[in-house]
Amino acid sequence: QKGGYRHFMLKEIFEQPRVISDGLTGRMNDDKSMVRLAELDDLPVPKRLHIVACGTSYHSGLWGRLLLEHWARVPVQVEIASEFRYRDTLLLDKDDMVLVISQSGETADTLAALRIAKQNGVTVLGLCNVVGSSIAREASAVLYTQAGPEISVASTKAMCSQMLMLTLMALYWGTRKGCLSVEESRNNLQILENLPALLDGSLPAMHERAKEISRKYAQVNNFFYLGRGHCYPLALEGALKLKELSYIHAEGYAAGEMKHGPIALIDPSFPTFALALDDALLPKVKSNMVEVQARQGQVIALTNKGVELDAEDRWDIPALPGPLSAFLALPALQLFSYETADYLGKDVDQPRNLAKSVTVE
Ligand code: F6R
Repeated sequence: QKGGYRHFMLKEIFEQPRVISDGLTGRMNDDKSMVRLAELDDLPVPKRLHIVACGTSYHSGLWGRLLLEHWARVPVQVEIASEFRYRDTLLLDKDDMVLVISQSGETADTLAALRIAKQNGVTVLGLCNVVGSSIAREASAVLYTQAGPEISVASTKAMCSQMLMLTLMALYWGTRKGCLSVEESRNNLQILENLPALLDGSLPAMHERAKEISRKYAQVNNFFYLGRGHCYPLALEGALKLKELSYIHAEGYAAGEMKHGPIALIDPSFPTFALALDDALLPKVKSNMVEVQARQGQVIALTNKGVELDAEDRWDIPALPGPLSAFLALPALQLFSYETADYLGKDVDQPRNLAKSVTVE
């Protein structure tokens, strides 16, 4: 059942190349220049999009916002479902769309948010993995992530599949609105098409590096995860994975927020996992790393070959342009948490106090 892997989580991390190729199947036109999303053809491109979700699915939404705003020029708000459902719905307009993201399709708060949006006459699009789930049934339209069953309580391949669908939505709406050129769409689709092979080839080395670094830090009590731009949601996700699996306290922060308080916590026993990928915001992240090191904080830097930086532990992963590099950073974060938890003897597939599907508020 675990296909030779020690845990379902590890199996599911290694399934991500397949998740991407499955997710792309049938989603491109014949010359592979534009995205096909027949589920959205009859819906207008939203004036504004409200993404509502919980946990890891919320992090996917935060990441997807950047692509939807950049490529499709759709203003996006991302909200935690348990907060959204108890706020006044002043921002919901008839021309808006609500996108609920849920692997299980059964999360109580996300389902409640969907119902509120519908009561307000707003179109609700569901992004779900489980076919026929409550959210899939109640949404005005549904896109399936097709990640296959996710057994491990901690979500891994589901996030990858959500990110893929959000990327496709951004490309689809972008070309439909005419704000993204067909050429740009084609280039990004080409990158996505090559991604399964690239990821497949990179995962074994990534796993080895995760093992090495996790051994060194497994005894610490606290961790910061820092990122900017599209790496900020990844920082949140990295911290969530580490705390839920290894029970090590971890906080994900927008790197620029450190000096507004959290940096006071830094000392030699409080390491930082910095997402320092080779993108436009790298110089900013590097200066945040220097600030941490100036307070004797140790830094693990997840970065790309050729990037010059100073870190106690450097972790190079293959580079991809812009936000699509997240598809390579995500499994590194997952493997680091997996290896830390396994080394500490924790129950990786069934962490304490957690359930796979949160059907109560
Ligand atoms: C974390 C995790 C949870 C879920 C959250 C939402 O690893 O699995 O944070 O992402 O409970 O679940 P879904 O996506 O099923 O609504």
